Amino acid sequence: MTVRVLFVCLGNICRSPTAHGVFQAMVDAQGLGERVWVDSAGTAAWHEGKAPDPRSSDFAARRGYDLSQLRARQAIAEDFSRFDYILAMDSENLSNLKQLQPTDGGAQLDLLLSYADGIERTDVPDPYYGNGQGFDLVLDLIENACAHLLVRIKEERGLSC
Ligand code: 4NP
Repeated sequence: MTVRVLFVCLGNICRSPTAHGVFQAMVDAQGLGERVWVDSAGTAAWHEGKAPDPRSSDFAARRGYDLSQLRARQAIAEDFSRFDYILAMDSENLSNLKQLQPTDGGAQLDLLLSYADGIERTDVPDPYYGNGQGFDLVLDLIENACAHLLVRIKEERGLSC
């Protein structure tokens, strides 16, 4: 059985590809690459087919994460049947995803930071228009939440490494 995990932000060029790369690295490091499928998407279609923002790629690469193969796509209603967990980066993404969500529910939909430990924020702030420091904060928040998300998924789905 494969567990399928989708990270969603607005443009799919900053926060959700960062979460995709970070979570994929954690999954691979635990030898779970064949059992956990990871993807990312944006609620907007503006950057469809584009690589991540170079600032996201650079800050991620400094921590050893490779985002170079990722390409943006828009989240669609079918993602709720294709994925088991959908993690929204902020409250606006969450409310946009709820509008896409079919009435029969499908994937478990949460804010990513609801899995974080010791962080009071609910939203991963959008770094796109800010100065470069926003990208390091995004990585700090995502690393924390993704580590705990993986522990939870392993427990819930009975995965061991
Ligand atoms: P993301 O950041 O949602 O983390 O990918 C953004 C990327 C692009 C835009 C906004 C946010 N934009 O307005 O193009």
